[in-house]
Amino acid sequence: MSPPQLALLLEEPKGDFVVRQKEIQTPPPGEVLIKIHAAALNPGEWKVHRSGALIESYPAMLGTDTAGEVEAVGEGVTKFKKGDRVLGSGFFTLDRGAYQQYSLIPAVFLAKLPDTLSYDEGATLPMAFVTAAKGLLAAEPFGAGLNPSFEWPTTQHSGETALVIGGSTSVGQLVIQVLKLLGFTNIVAYASKKHHAFLTELGATQCVDRAAVSLDALADLIPSAHIVYDCVAADEGFAASKIVRSDGCAITVDIVSERSDAAKEVGKGKKFVAVFAVSFLPGGHGEVGEMLWPLFGKLLEQGLIKPNRFEILPGGLKAVAGGLDKLARDEVSGVKLVVHPQETVL
Ligand SMILES: NC(=O)c1ccc[n+]([C@@H]2O[C@H](COP(=O)([O-])OP(=O)(O)OC[C@H]3O[C@@H](n4cnc5c(N)ncnc54)[C@H](OP(=O)(O)O)[C@@H]3O)[C@@H](O)[C@H]2O)c1
Repeated sequence: MSPPQLALLLEEPKGDFVVRQKEIQTPPPGEVLIKIHAAALNPGEWKVHRSGALIESYPAMLGTDTAGEVEAVGEGVTKFKKGDRVLGSGFFTLDRGAYQQYSLIPAVFLAKLPDTLSYDEGATLPMAFVTAAKGLLAAEPFGAGLNPSFEWPTTQHSGETALVIGGSTSVGQLVIQVLKLLGFTNIVAYASKKHHAFLTELGATQCVDRAAVSLDALADLIPSAHIVYDCVAADEGFAASKIVRSDGCAITVDIVSERSDAAKEVGKGKKFVAVFAVSFLPGGHGEVGEMLWPLFGKLLEQGLIKPNRFEILPGGLKAVAGGLDKLARDEVSGVKLVVHPQETVL
C-alpha cells in the first residue's frame, strides 16, 4: 500500500473541515495521479458545503481547481508523463477533490501548464476558463453556441457587442478574454472602478463602474448587446435577460432552476443559457468537457490566456475553511484564493 497523504475532509453534511491521512491511489486506465502544488478556491464550494448539494456520500471532499505535476499515469494515457506540469479540473469526490496532496483526474480534463505560468497562476484557471468557454462556445443547452465544434481560430464577431456583468470576477476575467479571441468589437465590463485598468488589459473596450451605475441604468447605457454574460449570480443577474437583443443570448452562472425560470420569463422568449461548468455530470457535460480541454491546452500553449491575479492563503489545506468564509462574506475582490496542499501539517 502506498504511504498516506494529507487531505481535507468533510466527515458529515455541513460539518467542519478536518485534515486526515488518506491513501494515495493508483491511477486507473485513462486517469492521471497529480501531486498538487496549488489548489484554488471557488465560491460554489461554500454554497455546496452549506447546502450539501452535489455530495453523494461522506466523508467528502471539495476543491476542483488543480495545478501540479504528474506523479503517475494509468493505462492508455499517452499525452502526459511523470513530471509534466499540468492543470486540471477535479470534482467533489474523495478521488478527485483538489483539497488533498495527490488527486486523480481523467487525462481528458487536463492540460499542460506552460513554463510561462506558475502553479499558482495555473490553479486560478480551470473552473473560470471552463465556465467562460462552455457558456460562450458550446451548443445549446450548454452554451450560446458561438463555436460548438471548439475548433480554433473561429468565426469572428466583428461589429458585435457583449456585456459582462461582474467583469472582475474570476469567471468574468476569462469571459472577457474569450470574447476578445472571438473578435467581439465592443466588450463592456461592469465592475468596480479599481479593476478597470486590468480588465482593459484583458480585452474590455469599455468599463462601467458598478458603484456609479445600477443594473437598471446599465440597460439604458448598453441598450443592445448580442451577448450578456452574468457572472455574478445575484438576483440582479436577471438584467442579462432584459438587456440582451432578441437575436442574442443571455448567459448566467446561476444554476438555481427557479431563478433561471424567472430570468427566462424576464427575457420573454430570448435565448437564455444557465452554465454548469462541471464535466463530471451525466447528460453530455463530459462530452463537452472533452472537446473543450484540447482547446484550453492550445490557447495556453499559445500564451493567449492570462490567469487571474491571486492571493496565497498560508497554512496549506487548513486555510481552506477560512478562505471559503471570506468568499461567502463577499470579501474577495478581483483575486483568486490559492492554497498549497504540500505545506499542510497534521
Ligand atoms: N455555474 C457554474 O458552473 C459556476 C462556475 C463557476 C462560478 N460560478 C458562480 O459564478 C459566480 C462568480 O464566481 P467567481 O469565482 O468568478 O467569483 P469571484 O471571483 O470570487 O467574485 C468576486 C467578485 O465578484 C464581484 N461582484 C460581486 N457582486 C457584484 C455585482 N453585483 N456586480 C458586479 N460584480 C460583482 C466583485 O467585484 P468588484 O471587486 O468589482 O466589486 C468581486 O471581484 C459565483 O456565484 C460562483 O458560484 C458558477
